Amino acid sequence: MAVFAIVGAGLAGMTLAREFIDAGHHCQVFEKSRGIGGRLATRRCDGWQVDHGAQYFTVRNPHFQQIVDTWCQQGWVAPWPLEPWILDRDGLRPSPDERKRYVGTPSMNAMIKGFGQGIEVYTQTRVDRLERVGDQWRLWDDAGEQYGQFDAVFLTAPLAQSLALLPSGSRAEVPLRNASMKPTWALAMAFDQPTGVEPDALFVREGVVDWAARDSAKPGRDGELEVWLMHFASQWSANHLDAADNLLQQQGLTLLRTLLRNIATSDLPTPKQVFTHRWLYARSGPVEMPVPQWDGRLKLGLAGDWTLGDRLEDAWLSAKALVADVRTANF
Ligand code: NAI
Repeated sequence: MAVFAIVGAGLAGMTLAREFIDAGHHCQVFEKSRGIGGRLATRRCDGWQVDHGAQYFTVRNPHFQQIVDTWCQQGWVAPWPLEPWILDRDGLRPSPDERKRYVGTPSMNAMIKGFGQGIEVYTQTRVDRLERVGDQWRLWDDAGEQYGQFDAVFLTAPLAQSLALLPSGSRAEVPLRNASMKPTWALAMAFDQPTGVEPDALFVREGVVDWAARDSAKPGRDGELEVWLMHFASQWSANHLDAADNLLQQQGLTLLRTLLRNIATSDLPTPKQVFTHRWLYARSGPVEMPVPQWDGRLKLGLAGDWTLGDRLEDAWLSAKALVADVRTANF
């Protein structure tokens, strides 16, 4: 039995922990936030909730599809039968497709909570430093607390945060320095009267906002209010990292009004509550150089969507690939 430290309790980190524990190892997971799930995030507000991180996920890999099917059977995930619309320079119109999309139920991280039961997670613990002691690792948090010893460490935080912890001499340093993640502003607006907007979800091209959805229309959401969630385009978000809430709200309402103007004559009700969240590391850029996920000399692993792409599926596939590497290393 080996003792492993995992930094980050998103899908990649928790998948690693589940697999290693099931293989007989001991794992401790360290997470800077209050809860688990990473960008699979749902904010509970006063009588309403909203998914402010990942909006849904899709499946392309058959092995991942098998897992998603079991999550559906457990009730942790459900298909979201979405009929998207598109807004571009040619105007607003339905944009139907055949893609099957899924959401966590009742919240985006439900599957992680489900399969993660019993995993030892230290929340609100920001790992600050890794220390190699002989052939073991020790971890330090930003309050000066020490954890360990561990036989191996696995970094699954977003790229920049994993890079900051990466020990010098790691083979992964150059690929990580050549990759990047982009920010996304999220805006949620809850209305206590119907907005009258027809589409439940909208892909926007060439706008300030690139995605808008009636979050309250997702399966498994109850609550009285009509909730809209918008994601601002990466470039706009990067150019407005310090955007004030009222600028975001103004932009969001302008988009919703555009939808109304095309569909109905009435104006929007005033949102009852508004909430914003800045994801500094939301979306990975293209993976320019392959990221070596397992360093057998340092006993250090890397996983996360950003090692492969920017989908939830990539986070899971990345964790599974790393587990296979570690198994080959005879842990
Ligand atoms: P997907 O395959 O449904 O969509 C990928 C992209 O294709 C969409 O973002 C959209 O631009 C376009 N698209 C898909 N269906 C369309 C349609 N019917 N009409 C017009 N355009 C369409 O989803 P995938 O790749 O599994 O990604 C999941 C979602 O998460 C996507 O919306 C993706 O953009 C989003 N995402 C958002 C991030 C953020 O920080 N804002 C980070 C990573 C993913």
